[in-house]
Amino acid sequence: MFKRTKNLRLSIIKQIELEASKYPDVISLAQGIPSFDTPGCIKRRVEQALKRGVVAKYSLVPGLPELRELIEVSLAEENMYYDWENEIIVTAGSIEGITATIMAITAPGDEVIIPEPTYTSYREVLCLAGCKPVYVPLNEEKGWSFELKKFEQAITNNTKAIFYCNPNNPTGTIYNKDQLLKLAELAKKHDLYLITDDVYKDFVFDNQKIFSLAEIPELRKRVIRLFSFSKAYAMTGWRVAYLHTDAGIAKEILKVHDSLVTCAPVISQYGALGALEMGEKDVKKFSIEYKKRRDLVCARLDKLSQYFSYTKPQGAYFVFPRLTSPPNPLSFAMRGGEVDSWTFALDLLKSAQVAVVPGIAFGPNGEGHIRINFGRSEEDINEAMDRIENYFKISQGL
Ligand SMILES: Cc1ncc(COP(=O)(O)O)c(C=O)c1O
Repeated sequence: MFKRTKNLRLSIIKQIELEASKYPDVISLAQGIPSFDTPGCIKRRVEQALKRGVVAKYSLVPGLPELRELIEVSLAEENMYYDWENEIIVTAGSIEGITATIMAITAPGDEVIIPEPTYTSYREVLCLAGCKPVYVPLNEEKGWSFELKKFEQAITNNTKAIFYCNPNNPTGTIYNKDQLLKLAELAKKHDLYLITDDVYKDFVFDNQKIFSLAEIPELRKRVIRLFSFSKAYAMTGWRVAYLHTDAGIAKEILKVHDSLVTCAPVISQYGALGALEMGEKDVKKFSIEYKKRRDLVCARLDKLSQYFSYTKPQGAYFVFPRLTSPPNPLSFAMRGGEVDSWTFALDLLKSAQVAVVPGIAFGPNGEGHIRINFGRSEEDINEAMDRIENYFKISQGL
């Protein structure tokens, strides 16, 4: 019974949100939801589609042709050349694209390498597919960067792919071109797929540049790239995203996509059209706001430097501070020398009504940390940080 779901867990991010929903006055900096509403230009595009009566029926399995054409154009602007008819699939959120990809390229028993800490749900999708997630720790001291040797050591005869997100959730750090090209060399040597989840690529700060391996034509038969409208355009509830890869791989992924959802919600595909046609200035506006909020949350963490240390995020809207000393050193649960992040997150929620994600959600190397989402409003960030400050004062008897 339940053999397939036995090792699956409800993502810890969602578990925390469920727990937080029991507290009336909670401030959540947990799940990666932006504070903004979907831009007006996107809503208007959808209203038009509704009025024209074009949203009631399924679209073609890979998505509306006019949307895929536009995706092809927008990819070309970023130096990625993929044919809309055979190489682009519109999905019901990127998580569905991830699931379809993993189901298509692996068989039960295969291993997929994931540098961690990383997005929680990769593990769950791999477990669902009967695959083994193989964690390779990122180097926190070196800004959460790759250590190539560790990847090489993790490769076995069963390894099928390396799967990462860039900018990385939860650390907000960016893998640069040099690191990625070295990873690609390794993938070539061992004949592995490279899955690159670029859902936060629009939010990069301090003149950083994002590079994707999907820009390299010789890699197109190994690279599968995912993008989502959820984060960039404040559309998490619409469930629309896309993936692109070489036609031979896309053909296989499409079969799984069909069996999972038939097509992405058509009304949301019109939203995605509006986003690509007119949403660019909104994305820029969001990005400027997130940078301000990044600076705000970092300034607030600096005031708590006796409890937290952190790497300044260069992208996405997360910071991943390490808990350097527990709130109550005499009685607080520790695990392997680290503050137990689950205990900490639950205690913070109960005592201060602030929800954050325990670092262990993102892999073993995330223990002793928490993830703070600064995609929420400035007001929420300030109130949550006031409460956290107070929480430490009270727990230390100050
Ligand atoms: C790195 C990353 N990838 C994928 C997703 C899934 O996003 P969606 O399914 O809304 O596109 C998330 C959501 O938080 C994420 O952080």
